[in-house]
Amino acid sequence: MKQMNVVILAAGRGTRMNSDKPKVLHALAGKTLVQRVLDCAKQLDPHKICVVYGHGGEAVPEALQNSDATCVLQEPQLGTGHAVQQAMPYLDDEGQTLVLYGDVPLIQHATLHQMQQAQNGLTLLTVNLDNATGYGRIVRNELGDVVSIVEEKDATVSQREIREVNTGILLAPTRNLKAWLAKLRTNNAQGEYYLTDVVAMAVEEGIAVHTVQPGHDWEIHGINSKIQLAALERTWQKVEASRLLAQGVTLTDPARIDVRGKLVCGRDVEIDVGCIFEGEVKLGNSVQIGAYSIVKNSTIADGTQIAPYSHIDESVVGSACRIGPYARLRPGTRLHDEVHVGNFVEVKNSIIEQSSKANHLSYIGDTTIGRRVNIGAGTITCNYDGANKHRTIIEDDVFIGSDTQLVAPVKIARGSTIGAGSTITRDTPSDELTLSRSKQMTINGWQRPKKQVKIDN
Ligand code: UD1
Ligand code: CA
Repeated sequence: MKQMNVVILAAGRGTRMNSDKPKVLHALAGKTLVQRVLDCAKQLDPHKICVVYGHGGEAVPEALQNSDATCVLQEPQLGTGHAVQQAMPYLDDEGQTLVLYGDVPLIQHATLHQMQQAQNGLTLLTVNLDNATGYGRIVRNELGDVVSIVEEKDATVSQREIREVNTGILLAPTRNLKAWLAKLRTNNAQGEYYLTDVVAMAVEEGIAVHTVQPGHDWEIHGINSKIQLAALERTWQKVEASRLLAQGVTLTDPARIDVRGKLVCGRDVEIDVGCIFEGEVKLGNSVQIGAYSIVKNSTIADGTQIAPYSHIDESVVGSACRIGPYARLRPGTRLHDEVHVGNFVEVKNSIIEQSSKANHLSYIGDTTIGRRVNIGAGTITCNYDGANKHRTIIEDDVFIGSDTQLVAPVKIARGSTIGAGSTITRDTPSDELTLSRSKQMTINGWQRPKKQVKIDN
C-alpha cells in the first residue's frame, strides 16, 4: 500500500452554529467532530495527518495537542483549494493525499479503504442525491467519464439537473495534487480557490478520475448548524441501536438509548429506556440495565442486574450482582460476584468481595470488604480527615450494624459484629461484638416544652 497523507479541513467559521466554540469542537456522540474524523483517518495508518484550522484562535490545536496531527493555520480562508494548499509544505511528494473534512464526522473506514483500493489517479467520493442543492455537481462526458466538478453557483441550468454530487472527499497522488493546487485561480462565482478545479486539471493531463460511493448516506453529511448536529446525532444513535439489535441485544425502545463510545454486549443483554453508555463499556451475557442508568468506562459481568437510575463510572462489576436502584459506583470500584449494592449507596475506590451486601443509604470509600459481609443501612466510612484519605478494611463475615461510622484507618477483623449506631475509631477483635454508644436512659417525669401563647393587646 502506498504511503498515505491525510489533510483534514477545519478552518470554516461555522457561523450558523451560533457558538463561540469552533464548529469542529462540538461533539457528536460524546466525541468532537474533528476527533471523529481524526480517529477514522488513523485507521488508515497514515504517514502524516494535517489539520487545517482557522477560526477560534488556538482552540483547535489545543484540543488536538495529544494527537499526532500537525495543525496548520489557514489565514485568511480563501477556499477549499487554498486550505489544502496550506498543508502541502508538510507533506513529501511520495504517495497519496486524502482530503477529509472536520465537519463531516461520520465518514467510515470501509469507505476510505474502498477509495484506497481504486487504481492510480484521482479518486472522488460522490453520491447521488434527489435534492442536490448546494453541492458541486459531477460532470461526465458521453462515455460516462468524469470531466470536471462544477460548483452550483457556477453551474449552467442543465448542469444543475445533475444528481451526482461531490462530497468533497478525494484522494490524489501528492505530487500531482501539489502541482494542481499551485495552478488554481479564483475566476469563479465565489472568487475562491476551489479544490474541485483539480479534477479538470487531472482530466487535461490524461490522469484517470475514479469515483467511489460511501457505504451509507450519513457518512458524508456535514454539520453547519445545531439542527444538523442534533439530526446527525439521532441518525448515529439509530445506527448504534440497530447494530445492538442485530447482535441480539434487547432494547425496550431503540430510539431511547445513547451510546457515546463503544458498547460491547454479550448474549441476551436487556437495556431499558433512557440509558447512556459512555466511553468503553462491556456488558456480559444476560446483563440487565434498568431505565435511566448511566454506565461509563466500566465492565459488568454475566447475569448482573442494574436497577433503574444507577450511575456506574470506571468500575468493574462481577457476575450475578444486584445494583441499584439509585446506586452510584464511582471510579475504582471493584465488585466481585453476587455483591448487592442497593439504593442510595455510593461506593468509591473500593473492593467488595463475593456475596457481600450494602443495601441501603451508605458511603463506602477507600475500603476493602471481604466475603459475606453485611453493611447495615446508613453506615459510612469516614475516609477523609480533612487532609488525607485513609483505608478501611472489613474482613470476611463481618456484620456492621446500621448507622455506623467507621473512622479510617481502621480494620474490622474477621467475624466482628458492630452494634448499630457505633462510631468505630480503633481496630476490632475478630468474632466479638464491638459497639460504642452511650447507654440508653430514661428521665422520669420530663416534660416537653410547650409553645407559648402570645397575647396581643
Ligand atoms: C464544497 C465543494 C463542493 C461540495 C461540498 C460538499 C469546493 C469548491 N466545493 O463546497 O463541491 O459539494 O463542499 O459539502 O470545494 N474550508 C476551509 N477553508 C476554506 C474554505 C473551506 O477549511 O477556506 C473547509 C470548511 O470548514 C468546510 C469545508 O472546507 O469544512 C467545505 O467548505 P464549504 O465552504 O462549506 O464548501 P462548499 O461551498 O459547501
Ligand atoms: Ca463555500
